Amino acid sequence: MKALVLSGGKGTRLRPLTFTCAKQLIPVANKPILGYVLEQVAATKIKDVGVITAPETGSNVEEYVSDGSNWGLNVCYIQQEPLGLAHAVKTAQAFLEEDSFVMCLGDNITGQGLAGFLEKFQNENLDALIILKEVKDPSSFGIAQLDDKGNIIRLVEKPKTPVGNLAIIGTYIFSKQIHRAIENIKPSWRGELEITDAIQEMINLGFRVKAEILNSWWLDTGKKDDILSANAKILDEYIQRDVKATSIDSTIDGRAKIDETAKIVNSTIRGPCIIGKNVLIKNSFIGPYTSIGDNVAICNSNIEYSVIQNNVIIEEIERLEDSLIGRNAKVTRNGFSRTIKMHIGDYSQLEV
Ligand code: TTP
Repeated sequence: MKALVLSGGKGTRLRPLTFTCAKQLIPVANKPILGYVLEQVAATKIKDVGVITAPETGSNVEEYVSDGSNWGLNVCYIQQEPLGLAHAVKTAQAFLEEDSFVMCLGDNITGQGLAGFLEKFQNENLDALIILKEVKDPSSFGIAQLDDKGNIIRLVEKPKTPVGNLAIIGTYIFSKQIHRAIENIKPSWRGELEITDAIQEMINLGFRVKAEILNSWWLDTGKKDDILSANAKILDEYIQRDVKATSIDSTIDGRAKIDETAKIVNSTIRGPCIIGKNVLIKNSFIGPYTSIGDNVAICNSNIEYSVIQNNVIIEEIERLEDSLIGRNAKVTRNGFSRTIKMHIGDYSQLEV
């Protein structure tokens, strides 16, 4: 059994951050999303992992994951033009050989490990096990229809008429038969080789394709608000109070994890939150569900429910909420003037 982790793609919905950084490396609770995915793979018996990368951002991913030894894994890289999830599998065929493999999306996190799914796949001698989750808005997802034994009988991409509410979440286990199915499919209207078409083809060819429903939460971090939700969820579930930082005339409430090199002056910090190395917080309020990276300075500002990446400066901002601030950004106030002055990257989004 091997693992294939998809860390390529275009990341258009997260521009401009994805012009300079792979979206899978955007931090939630100060750890890249891809780190959570690799931890879940490392918690199984699998050792050999192929990581799919895109030409533009592959070097960032390789720098972070390296040879995988930080997770006890043997990682190799497979560069792919982003032409669909099934195209990624096709590109990885030389690495996958005839082995079965678990495929995970590098920008999806779940609260449940992979072990139970791998056991079911092996015990029932399946050709595909597709993990599903109930969703409120089925028309935005690939939806699976099941028979009463849990076999998938049909997949419908973004259904206009109701066919159920079980969405394909981005964790799949396949036998080598997936390669036969991919040989038979053609690119979709958006020019991509779709994994849903490949799974449908496996069903058509009579292979054993079953589903399992995820019991825990699932977050797809493809857009800004999804990253903020994932950040809140991880802070909520995993952060314990750990405050060794220098604190002068400040109040630090609740589950705050603050690096010992941080300095908090005349401020209020309210957890759950995480604050990285060499951070200065002065005359400010940091509210719940906020992650602040390394080398950040925040003065005379109030921040809540946000992800602030490394090397950011925030000054004189009365209220900053629901925000995702990229590396090396500077957000300051222009005195008491009502004029807004901006110097922002292509595809940035501002709500003022
Ligand atoms: P998506 O989020 O569906 O696609 P995308 O990364 O191109 O993003 P956007 O729609 O904003 O342009 O991809 C899901 C995951 O799979 C993500 O981690 C990227 C990865 N991926 C690949 O590795 N190769 C591919 O060809 C595609 C389409 C995605």
